[in-house]
Amino acid sequence: MIKKRYLMAPGPVAVAPQVLARMSEPIIHHRSPQFSAILTGVRSDLKYLYQTENDVIIFASSGTGGMEASVVNLLSPGDTAIVVRAGKFGERWTELCEAYGVTVVNIDVPWGEAVDPAEVQNALEAHPEAKAVFMQAHETSTGAKHPVREIGALVKDRAETALVVDAITALGVYELKTDEWGLDVVVTGSQKALALPPGLSLVSVSEKAWRLVEKSRLPKYYLSFAKERKAIGKETTAFTPAVSLIIGLAEVLKGIREAGLPAVFEHHRRLAEGTRAAVAALGLELFSKAPSEAVTVITAPAGINGQDVVKIMREKYGITIAGGQAQAKGKIFRISHMGHLSEWDMIIAISAVERALKELGHPVELGRGVAAAEAHFAR
Ligand SMILES: Cc1ncc(COP(=O)(O)O)c(C=O)c1O
Repeated sequence: MIKKRYLMAPGPVAVAPQVLARMSEPIIHHRSPQFSAILTGVRSDLKYLYQTENDVIIFASSGTGGMEASVVNLLSPGDTAIVVRAGKFGERWTELCEAYGVTVVNIDVPWGEAVDPAEVQNALEAHPEAKAVFMQAHETSTGAKHPVREIGALVKDRAETALVVDAITALGVYELKTDEWGLDVVVTGSQKALALPPGLSLVSVSEKAWRLVEKSRLPKYYLSFAKERKAIGKETTAFTPAVSLIIGLAEVLKGIREAGLPAVFEHHRRLAEGTRAAVAALGLELFSKAPSEAVTVITAPAGINGQDVVKIMREKYGITIAGGQAQAKGKIFRISHMGHLSEWDMIIAISAVERALKELGHPVELGRGVAAAEAHFAR
C-alpha cells in the first residue's frame, strides 16, 4: 500500500499539483522566442514579489548559490563585512566570507533572538570601512525574524556599504519592501515560499550594490551578476537556465499576482497564528522570541528529544517536519507554513504532534491543540 505523505518542513516544501503539471510539459529550448516571453513575464512578476524596480537575477542553484553570488560580486579580497550571526544561516554568511578572504565582524546573537538594530549601528560606527552588512530576514534555524526595515534605515545613507539580506524564508511569506526599506541585495530560493522544487536562487541588486559590483575583485565565473545583467538586456540568461523550474515559477508568480501580496501574507499569518494557538493550548513553548509566519519552532518539552518527535511523525504518520540543527538539535521541532499548505494541513500536523508527544510519554490531552487551532481558524 502506498502511504499518504505530507511535507511540512521549512524547505523543500509541498508543490501544488497544477505547478507540477506545468513543469512536466515537454522541454522547450531556452534560446527561443517562446522561452524569452516566459522569462520576461517572470522577471516582471519578480519585481512585484520583491516590491522593487531593480533587476532580479535567476541562478540555477540552491539558495546558498545566491548567497555566495552576493559575496563574490560585491566584495574584494581583504574587505571587511559585518555579519548578523543568530543561527545556522547567519553562520553561513561568516563561512562564505571567510572562504573568500573577507574580514568578518560578527554580531553574535543568542539563538532564538532577533538582532538589536543598535548592535548593527555600533558595528557600522566601529567599522565604517565595512562594504556590506550580511543578515537573514528570518533565521530559519531558530524561527526568529530580524528587524530588516530598521537595519535598512541604518545602512541606506552609507554610500559605500550595501545591506545584503538572505530572505530565503521571508520573501513571499511576509512584508519585505526591497526598495522602500533600502535592501540592496535580497536573496531567495525556489523551495520555500515560492512552493517550487529546489534549484533556483533569485537575487535582486540595487544601484548602490551595482556600484560595488563594478569594483569587486573576488573571483567569479558562473555566479556573475554582470554576465546576468547583460543577458537580461537580451531577454535571456547567461547560461542554460533551469527551464522547467522557471516555467513552474511563472505559474506560481501568476497565482501570487492574482491573489495579491496582502492575501499571500495573510495566508501565512493565519497558518502561523493558528499553529501558535495550538502550541499555547498544549502548554508548549515557542523557541523564537520573535516568531515568524514562515515556520513555527516549538521547544521540545523537558525530557523529550525533538528528533524523536520528528522521527515518529515521519516514520509512523508519514508527516515530514524538521528538527533542530547544530546547537538546537534535539531541543526543538519545526513546522512549516510555507509551501502548498492550508489550515487543514496545520490541523493534521498539530494532531500528529499531540500523538507523537503522548507516545513519548509527555502528558497530552489529545485534541486540545487541534481544538485551539480550529477555534482560531473558525474566527
Ligand atoms: C534562511 C536560509 N538561508 C539559507 C538557506 C540555504 O538554502 P539552500 O539550502 O537552498 O542552499 C536556507 C535553507 O533552509 C535558509 O532557510
